[in-house]
Amino acid sequence: MSYNLLKGKRGIITGALNESSIAWFVAERAVEEGAEIVLTNAPISLRMGKINELAEKLNTIVIPADATSTDDIENLYTKASEHFGGEKIDFILHSIGMSPNVRKGREYNDLNYDFFQKSIDISALSFHKMMQVADKMDVLNEGASIVGLSYIAAQRAYPDYGDMSQAKAVLESIARSFGQKLGEKKGVRVNTISQSPTVTTAGQGITGFDVFVDFADMLSPLGNASALECADYVITLFSDLTRKVTMQNLFHDGGFSTAGISHAMVDRLSK
Ligand code: NAI
Repeated sequence: MSYNLLKGKRGIITGALNESSIAWFVAERAVEEGAEIVLTNAPISLRMGKINELAEKLNTIVIPADATSTDDIENLYTKASEHFGGEKIDFILHSIGMSPNVRKGREYNDLNYDFFQKSIDISALSFHKMMQVADKMDVLNEGASIVGLSYIAAQRAYPDYGDMSQAKAVLESIARSFGQKLGEKKGVRVNTISQSPTVTTAGQGITGFDVFVDFADMLSPLGNASALECADYVITLFSDLTRKVTMQNLFHDGGFSTAGISHAMVDRLSK
């Protein structure tokens, strides 16, 4: 159902790789809610994924950008502004995560430090870079909204989430620090959403991911939040209904983060 929550707004959506990507759902929902968007992803992901199909469906363009490169980000904003007829940007979704250590199954006590730096660069510093370049190029509208996607491993230890735990902690911290800066300067909101485990390409790269998903679902009174439900929440943050929400890490997890144990788990463990 559409409420026209983003009518007249323009935004950039990163990270739509295929139809299970959280960003894919956000892109579809943003357009349904009346926004004009441009899509972007790393050049290599454009070749592997299905983003062009999504662009065709949503009648928009894809601008390749490696989010670790400030040159690529500058080019992204220049081309997006051209596409928007010189108008500024009202929202940005940062939906980017990758850890070479996790991908190669490195144990936490056997991490490769070059990989570690790549994980932080791709999954966290890219959030800073996207905001810093946007600020310097002055492409954001007053009251714009920027959202990054996080995971509760920023606060709690998960054995196979590896260095992504640190990347997410940095991501959430950047949201606070940049939220303060951009809030004072332009009334811009910056938040992260800490999402339930969700079956996507990035998610499935984690050892034992299916167990994460089942465990979280069993513990959460409302069950796990789906990618579409996450997209709905992102839309509210892009909309004018949340103009005073900023510098927050917002849990979107069916209650998981504050649940102790559930009846479902007691039943399962008493068997
Ligand atoms: P996904 O694999 O569909 O999306 C990750 C995206 O990051 C891909 O589109 C990939 O091309 C992009 N990417 C990787 N390196 C890049 C680079 N250098 N420059 C630009 N883009 C790059 O998976 P998903 O799950 O939709 O991930 C989106 C975000 O949601 C990530 O930040 C992830 O950590 C976060 N998240 C995912 C959860 C899950 O269980 N799937 C749970 C909580 C948060």
